[in-house]
Amino acid sequence: MGVTGARPVGAEGEEEAARAVQQMFDSIAPRYDLLNHVLSANVDRLWWRRAARRFKAVLADPDAAVLDICCGTGDMTMALLKRRPRGARPTLAADFARNMLSRGVKKFGESARKAGEPYAVPLEADALHLPLRSESLDLIVSAFGFRNLANYEAGLREFHRVLKPGGQLGILEFSEPGGLIGKAYAVYFRRVLPAIGRAICGRNGAYSYLPISVGNFPAPPEMVALMQATGYEQCEWQPYTFGIAGLYMGVRQNQ
Ligand SMILES: C[S@@+](CC[C@H](N)C(=O)[O-])C[C@H]1O[C@@H](n2cnc3c(N)ncnc32)[C@H](O)[C@@H]1O
Repeated sequence: MGVTGARPVGAEGEEEAARAVQQMFDSIAPRYDLLNHVLSANVDRLWWRRAARRFKAVLADPDAAVLDICCGTGDMTMALLKRRPRGARPTLAADFARNMLSRGVKKFGESARKAGEPYAVPLEADALHLPLRSESLDLIVSAFGFRNLANYEAGLREFHRVLKPGGQLGILEFSEPGGLIGKAYAVYFRRVLPAIGRAICGRNGAYSYLPISVGNFPAPPEMVALMQATGYEQCEWQPYTFGIAGLYMGVRQNQ
């Protein structure tokens, strides 16, 4: 596989790439939710809900230890919380961009929720170095965050370390559909979307980075192969909305 991780323009090496990604999300945090919903015409809500539904059995277990990694402003976390029973063990919601996380906690934090409602605990942490015990989690979910990691293989290995044997991984990511739909979408994604992003956000880099990072991300068969090579079984990719996005799933092997 050619691509090993995200490389924002100008960043050399993994450290620089990670810092560039962190700074970018910190800077767009105030406008992130608005932009997301405008650019996806609210379809992102359906994707978060659908991904959460896929893990409904484990989410319904009150004792399950669940992590939303790269949680950002917390909309995936909220979709997960909807499926947790009252009194469930708190879900963990981690991100390394403090400005994104601080917006998320206003939605999913204990003080933002009614008494007894499931809530999430924020964790400011790098996905490649999680401050969590090995074999401690039943489920890790990531929505539109994994693509931004500076090293995809290292990310999958770190998730493998903290998942219990038999624990599940779900990665929701964009992809580039083929055929006519893919061609039409490419025009929107590569030209229209960065222009709208610039207009709302007033910044050049962030929404030009999005299509570039999606274009550089491994295609579904490559990503599935990488998951298999890093210790996951029952790996599959389920396309959402003509393959504009999709959910990668895998189960941590016993060794
Ligand atoms: C596109 S946002 C997605 C946020 C949210 N999951 C959603 O679906 O709206 C990507 C998030 O991943 C976070 N992120 C990227 N690389 C990370 C890393 N190495 N460790 C922790 N968070 C990371 C960014 O800070 C950002 O908040």
